[in-house]
Amino acid sequence: MTAAPRSFLFLLGSARTGGNTEALARAAAEHLAPGTSQRWIHLGELGLPPFTDRRHTGDGITPFAEGAEQIVQDATLAATDIVIASPLYWYSVSGPVKNYLDHWSGWLRVPGLDFKARMAGRRLWGVTVRGDHDPAAAVPLAGTLRLTAEYLKMDWRGVLLGYGSRPGDVDRDESARAAAKTFFDGARAETPDILY
Ligand SMILES: Cc1cc2nc3c(=O)[nH]c(=O)nc-3n(C[C@H](O)[C@H](O)[C@H](O)COP(=O)(O)O)c2cc1C
Repeated sequence: MTAAPRSFLFLLGSARTGGNTEALARAAAEHLAPGTSQRWIHLGELGLPPFTDRRHTGDGITPFAEGAEQIVQDATLAATDIVIASPLYWYSVSGPVKNYLDHWSGWLRVPGLDFKARMAGRRLWGVTVRGDHDPAAAVPLAGTLRLTAEYLKMDWRGVLLGYGSRPGDVDRDESARAAAKTFFDGARAETPDILY
């Protein structure tokens, strides 16, 4: 029996382009099975508006998405695999990624979108690069993503972690480059929060 086709959505969360996190995510993506669909969205360039919490305003309903929000919402719901490629900022995900995840809270309340039920079972992955020597600095980021996946009954697949500060640094992180080769192959018996 052939496996169902996979489609990966890479959400780039750095506040710059061409950084280490994107480089590590692209290195891992090179090892996806041939023909696997990939879509890459740089959240900062997309111009996703700040999330507004309407839960307790009026009828509490989130209006239908439009513009940049609709683009990323459609891409999210079209993907079997969502990859949060966020640099480590203050021990967690970057602002653009946090804003994107905050929008999920609104999407849970769009009539007819069925966001929670449709997200269940999709895979959630993380890729991050930190400037701290200690890999434990990324534990809060991994916890944020794991708990988010669990809340939506998604299939949590762990975080690929690299080390670097200036763009290009992560290319010299041998263990991250090695882990990138098999990160997406899903052959692990268990999913550790962090792979490095
Ligand atoms: C706003 C900001 C916050 C940061 N916070 C942390 C941090 O908490 N821990 C850490 O190890 N590195 C931190 N760094 C360093 C970045 O994680 C590191 O430079 C990384 O390579 C940036 O990813 P990028 O190259 O993909 O942009 C921070 C950098 C910035 C700009």
